[in-house]
Amino acid sequence: MSYIKRIGLFGIVLTLLWWPAAFAAEEVSFNNDVFPILELRCLECHQPGKKGYEESGLDLRTYESLMKGTKHGPIVVPRSAFTSNLVVVIDHRADAAIRMPHEGKRLSKCERLLVRFWINQGARNN
Ligand code: HEC
Repeated sequence: MSYIKRIGLFGIVLTLLWWPAAFAAEEVSFNNDVFPILELRCLECHQPGKKGYEESGLDLRTYESLMKGTKHGPIVVPRSAFTSNLVVVIDHRADAAIRMPHEGKRLSKCERLLVRFWINQGARNN
């Protein structure tokens, strides 16, 4: 009971409120989680000299080039995965011609969730 006296009831309520947040907020890393997916599934076309880059201007070799986007502009809207074109094309919500990977197998649900979480956590170079 002395523990309760020391931090007070208010302290306990605060601790309990923060508990779920502490576990839910496991951070997704660009370098460890997201980039390996792009490297494996997208880079063969999205770098200079390859079809995806030549047609769309999207270079996926680095964080900076991903954030620059296509010739039409950014495809990642930090904290808004649903409106990010990157997610639209990998979720196949786009026109068949721009479903990615182009004419390839869709990314797994797990891979797509990682991309979404990373964007909603701020799309940082972490
Ligand atoms: C087999 C080659 C190939 C692969 C693999 C590929 N792409 Fe593409 N990508 C293309 C081509 C070609 C275009 C241009 C399509 C067009 O504009 O009609 C394109 C266009 C795009 C665009 C722009 C769409 C728009 O709005 O016009 C995005 C975003 C994109 N790709 C993301 C990705 C991502 C993310 C991956 C990996 C999950 C990927 N691509 C894998 C070939 C590829």
